[in-house]
Amino acid sequence: MRIRSIAIVGLIAMGAGAPVWANSRDFPSPPVQLNAPPQKPIVPPAPTRGQLLYENHCTVCHASVVHLRSNRRAKSQAEIRTWVMHWSEYLKLRWQPDEVDDVVKHLNQTFYKFAPK
Ligand code: HEC
Repeated sequence: MRIRSIAIVGLIAMGAGAPVWANSRDFPSPPVQLNAPPQKPIVPPAPTRGQLLYENHCTVCHASVVHLRSNRRAKSQAEIRTWVMHWSEYLKLRWQPDEVDDVVKHLNQTFYKFAPK
């Protein structure tokens, strides 16, 4: 008798302890906005061609820190170009001038930030 009443008390306590929001009807629903403009998906910006060329061919030897080191070699956009041409020729990539341009632009915009001259 004593054991049974303890069990019943236990069951009641469990029932009372159930969270009130267990029933989905109890959730506050967000206000529905009719005619709301569609949400724009958050998409990271697409990499530029210069970035892709650089990342595909040039990061085998050096990480981008080489362009941020304090004693970095390139001191102007023209010098970045000289380096890009040197290494693309070294790798026999046969980059066209516009591909070299894109990589120089990528490196300058991302790391060097030299003013265009
Ligand atoms: C075989 C290895 C190797 C490859 C591949 C390579 N680099 Fe380099 N790069 C180096 C080394 C080593 C240095 C540092 C040279 C120095 O300090 O004298 C360097 C330096 C540079 C610098 C000058 C960094 C500064 O100090 O301002 C640029 C710009 C550069 N590389 C661009 C490129 C590009 C673009 C490519 C791809 C086409 C490329 N590198 C591929 C080894 C490489």
